[in-house]
Amino acid sequence: MVRVQVPATTANMGPGFDTLGMALKLYNIVEMEEAGLNLYIDVEGDGAERIPRGRSNIVYVAAARVFQITGYEPRGLRIKITNNIPLARGLGSSASAIIGGLVAANILSGNKLTENELLNLAANIEGHPDNVAPALLGGIVVTVKDDDEIQFVKIEPPAKLRCVVAIPDFPLQTKAAREVLPQAVTISDAVFNISRTALLVAALMKQDFNLLTVAMDDKIHQPYRSNLVPGMKKVFAAARLAGARGVALSGAGPTLIAFCDENTGFIAKVMKETFSQSGLQVKVLELEPNPVGAVALEVMK
Ligand code: HSE
Repeated sequence: MVRVQVPATTANMGPGFDTLGMALKLYNIVEMEEAGLNLYIDVEGDGAERIPRGRSNIVYVAAARVFQITGYEPRGLRIKITNNIPLARGLGSSASAIIGGLVAANILSGNKLTENELLNLAANIEGHPDNVAPALLGGIVVTVKDDDEIQFVKIEPPAKLRCVVAIPDFPLQTKAAREVLPQAVTISDAVFNISRTALLVAALMKQDFNLLTVAMDDKIHQPYRSNLVPGMKKVFAAARLAGARGVALSGAGPTLIAFCDENTGFIAKVMKETFSQSGLQVKVLELEPNPVGAVALEVMK
């Protein structure tokens, strides 16, 4: 039996749309073993009732891709998924499922695929690399898609970085949150985001928190998505006033994430109260960046 733990992730980090992502200390577990005669999928935890148990299950889809490429034929397959990452909230639940399926199936089939191959497969299934890369590798990952190949650099999260996430009580599918985006942006908006993405990576590497407010601003996706999350702009402003160094929509949302170095309890309270003024109930969590990606906790043949 193979047991893989995969972290939650926050993608974009403000300006780094489809490019930057960071792993967080919150985990889904995927267990996989060759047993029975057919496919059996069991799901527990967040959103369990909404997750398909058949061959359209994303953990299975990812695993099947590995078996197909490696030519490995499992004798029956039992998959158990334990979800702690809230579903469709912008914290990388689908990326964790994909990575869990790929890593577990790769172990079952004799570790034939490299980390690079797994990352490219994952990005291909997900459609963009910014969640799957930190889910697999941990830390903060800068990703670039070049001719269908993912180039990446992992950087260590600043030691003092803490995150507060405010998770609204409604799901938002990434597809819907991408449909509100324009097909083209102006050159000045492109420069706005390029400069901030570069500044953000440099600031994180130098552990310079003073730059985060400016560096995490964005003009190419958040303004278009703000209508999908009632109170988003107010919560951004309130979190900054409460001491957050930078605030962003986590991935495609609806979760908001504040980057902090202190006062996380107060910032969490302010984000929750400000959301409730807009009629939205949120769950707030204080999460640390996770330097480690997917890990196999148990491997028994
Ligand atoms: N970069 C992606 C987006 C992340 O913002 O649409 C969501 O999965």
